[in-house]
Amino acid sequence: MERVLEPELMDDPEQARAYARADFEEENQGFVDRFVEFYPEFKAGHVLDLGCGPADIPIRLARKLPECRITGVDGSPPMIAIGLDVICVAGLADRIALRCERFQDTVLPERADAVISNSLLHHVPNPLQFWYAVKKLAQPGAVVLVMDLLRPESSEAAQAIVDKYAADEPAILRRDFYNSLLASFTEDDVAAQLAEMNLSRLLIDVPDDRHWIVGGRLT
Ligand SMILES: C[S@@+](CC[C@H](N)C(=O)[O-])C[C@H]1O[C@@H](n2cnc3c(N)ncnc32)[C@H](O)[C@@H]1O
Repeated sequence: MERVLEPELMDDPEQARAYARADFEEENQGFVDRFVEFYPEFKAGHVLDLGCGPADIPIRLARKLPECRITGVDGSPPMIAIGLDVICVAGLADRIALRCERFQDTVLPERADAVISNSLLHHVPNPLQFWYAVKKLAQPGAVVLVMDLLRPESSEAAQAIVDKYAADEPAILRRDFYNSLLASFTEDDVAAQLAEMNLSRLLIDVPDDRHWIVGGRLT
């Protein structure tokens, strides 16, 4: 199945609210646990989260790694507004900063020590822009953890995944999940992107039927 693009930003307020209300506990905590498992030596430093959405992953990571500070970047104003509220309630405003901007426009005063991103790449029309930003915004030796959806073989297979994992979710979330699966990349696509960007030290893995994960250190 060919890739079918979906809108880059999730900037419809209703869409952002539905996303923020959804239960991503297993996926998001799993992402944070994996970061700690992959990089047990990483205890302190500046972590950049590209496409942070409502900041659930930054909050979970900040709780797990109390000596880290995190910058989340998202181009959607309603996502950032929700994220700022949740960070305040969590009492983490001194360690998590959010920026409402497209990652393609992000400039940091100093390069980050780690870059993380979950479920962003499939939104981006040109995926090389994402990997370019990872290289530009993180320092040499920085750790990287990127996870996203895996494109199924057909639209029927995509629908079957939505039915299996999101049967009880609101219609707007089911629609977005389906569209995201169609917009996502295959393992071969991502491997080719990494090779093209000279990021071959980053390794790709497919942990389940709907995700790929890339991890490693930048040269
Ligand atoms: C599916 S959500 C994932 C949110 C979060 N990472 C999570 O795992 O809960 C994707 C987010 O990426 C944001 N996004 C898409 N393209 C972007 C871009 N070019 N720059 C910054 N954010 C972007 C969207 O607005 C949306 O909030």
